[in-house]
Amino acid sequence: MSTMFDGMEIPGRNDECWCGSGRKYKKCHARIDERLQAFFDQGEEVPPHTLLKTPADIEGIKYSAEVNIGVLDGVGELVGPGVTTEEIDRWIYDYCIAHDSVPADLDYEGFPKSVCTSINEVVCHGIPSKEDVLREGDIVNIDMSTIRNGYYSDSSRMYYVGEVSEERKRLCEVTRESVKAGLAAVKPWAHLGDVSAAVNKVATDAGYSVVAEFGGHGIGLEFHEDPFVSFVAAAGTGPILVPGMCFTIEPMVNAGGAAIDMSDPNGWTVRTADGSDTAQWEVQLVVTEEGYELLSW
Ligand code: MF3
Ligand code: CO
Repeated sequence: MSTMFDGMEIPGRNDECWCGSGRKYKKCHARIDERLQAFFDQGEEVPPHTLLKTPADIEGIKYSAEVNIGVLDGVGELVGPGVTTEEIDRWIYDYCIAHDSVPADLDYEGFPKSVCTSINEVVCHGIPSKEDVLREGDIVNIDMSTIRNGYYSDSSRMYYVGEVSEERKRLCEVTRESVKAGLAAVKPWAHLGDVSAAVNKVATDAGYSVVAEFGGHGIGLEFHEDPFVSFVAAAGTGPILVPGMCFTIEPMVNAGGAAIDMSDPNGWTVRTADGSDTAQWEVQLVVTEEGYELLSW
């Protein structure tokens, strides 16, 4: 019996594929596996098979993502001057429960609420609160993660509170464009660092800076799986992208410097060190033979 680079047993060519497609191995993942092994033999970093989602996994993630997308569409109607982030949190919790789901953030490493709401200079992990009243001109990131039937989805968007300044709109739009550039770099057999570099270029070309301490992540069967998706890594570095890998692209882009302040006594809220505005968009995708498919946005 022979095994692949990650210890997985190589099926017989006429056996059923390991992915559960029901097809013969030689007609399904045999070619991908040969290519993976070849990259490994060349000294490249390659993801283990445990990170490759099966067709059934992808269906499960999409079912979870229906709720994640429903939440982010729905809160768009709710966001406005005078609304508290606590009210947004409550609406989201109720929506999840009504759709046989659980908010993944709730109780995650002690996080006390169902969603992250990060306003203006808050980079990420803002905790919804009665004290946080949205004001005209604010920008807020709402970062939602859902567990449904055991599968995880995760995405976030920026929302404008009433009329927002041109500067703030530009920051949000450039950050969104950076995610699109990252998506365009998602191709099987490319490097994950190609995605990082594409995101980073759009943000830095516009005069902004990119947070180094946080990034995207594998996701699907767990909330945070490998690989870590940096947005300050160089092209040509990191793991090879393989069909079935599922991960997020979620850069945090600061109008000022890249440095962050993690000293909030609540242990969660992250701010820009210089108090400048910051924006983030997050999408979740699966690598396909052609490029990628968006799962949550
Ligand atoms: N949703 C965040 C992410 O994109 C994680 C939030 S964890 C929490 O990975 F505990 F702060 F909610
Ligand atoms: Co995420």
